[in-house]
Amino acid sequence: MSQHPVFDPKGMPFRRLGGSGLRVPIFSYGGWLTVGGSVVGDPVKELIKTAFENGINMIDTAEAYAKGNSEVEIGRVLKELNYRRTDLVITTKLFWGLREGPNDGGLSRKHIIEGTKESLERLQVDYVDVIFAHRPDPTIPMEEVVRAFNWVIEKGWAFYWGTSEWSARELEEAYHVADKLGLIGPIAEQCRHNLLYRERPEKEYEPLYRKYQLGTTVFSALAQGLLTGKYNDGVPADSRWATEKEAQFKSHAARLSTPEGQADIAKVKALSEFAEKELGCTVTHLALAWVAANPNTSTVILGASKPEQLIDNLKALEVLPKLTPAVLAQIEEIAQSKPTPVNLYGRYPLDGALPTQL
Ligand SMILES: NC(=O)c1ccc[n+]([C@@H]2O[C@H](COP(=O)([O-])OP(=O)(O)OC[C@H]3O[C@@H](n4cnc5c(N)ncnc54)[C@H](OP(=O)(O)O)[C@@H]3O)[C@@H](O)[C@H]2O)c1
Repeated sequence: MSQHPVFDPKGMPFRRLGGSGLRVPIFSYGGWLTVGGSVVGDPVKELIKTAFENGINMIDTAEAYAKGNSEVEIGRVLKELNYRRTDLVITTKLFWGLREGPNDGGLSRKHIIEGTKESLERLQVDYVDVIFAHRPDPTIPMEEVVRAFNWVIEKGWAFYWGTSEWSARELEEAYHVADKLGLIGPIAEQCRHNLLYRERPEKEYEPLYRKYQLGTTVFSALAQGLLTGKYNDGVPADSRWATEKEAQFKSHAARLSTPEGQADIAKVKALSEFAEKELGCTVTHLALAWVAANPNTSTVILGASKPEQLIDNLKALEVLPKLTPAVLAQIEEIAQSKPTPVNLYGRYPLDGALPTQL
């Protein structure tokens, strides 16, 4: 076997994923829509190589991405690039299975165990570092879900488990069940968080960061490209919103001409101006650095369709130290998106009892 390329973090800061001992780069790379979907073959290798050579050793995928093909492409490329497994943090997600049968999806013990084994096969690895429940499954008792993820961990097929788009109530129930049974609870929530979408990660989850040291692997930090400014004047032909066939992308594009869509565009334009004048960067860098600057963010999953986008996005690392409290306050003024504070009913606020102030 030829020598493994050596992983060089290249100054990438690493954070613990929640309360766990797993260290994750503050910028990771994810393969929704792109890897195995709009990008296949050699360009996938270029993307993953570019990530690895720029300090990103964490890759996120899911059984459902490109109907399993995202995992297949990532598995193939990681083999071809001959990266040392211990250098990598690989995460995948289960929920939307690949077939239509009654037991081919969701969070039953059957699908969690069978789905994990199939993901590992596609990825050509013995284990993933974190396995996520891609959505909550209200049709399955929480005890079954928690026990099944613990079984997967006991088997060595994953080291940790997490959730994605679960409500705080569902997470609380999982922690309660895990605690009662002496089992391991979720270490992280894979949640949407960006300058235009903040209520859930900043307000709803706030008690969970304090009580359970919940980590986050943040997705759509660029609001699927909106926060790059590329949709300011309509939908470019080679962009996600033009090329993806699903109805959600048509509705994203249609929303641009509504008053709400125009209000978002106005914010993106104002943020662009601020970024250029005050920070010497683009709105893309500002938006990514802003999410990474949140102390509850463990990693921001970058979604790039081209290596140039990845390299460009990593300039956010240079912007991070510029996000002083004064600068963050100016960004708040422009974005006007801060969730309303928790109602304390007149009680004097205690340290740590309020949502994190950015
Ligand atoms: N758990 C979940 O439910 C969930 C949901 C969504 C995503 N995720 C994960 O999070 C990852 C990232 O999510 P996301 O793709 O929505 O993230 P995002 O960063 O908000 O959007 C990424 C898209 O923005 C465009 N873009 C990125 N950098 C750019 C740049 N520098 N200049 C111009 N355009 C740029 C690209 O679109 P174009 O194709 O137009 O070039 C790219 O595909 C996914 O790959 C996946 O791993 C998880």
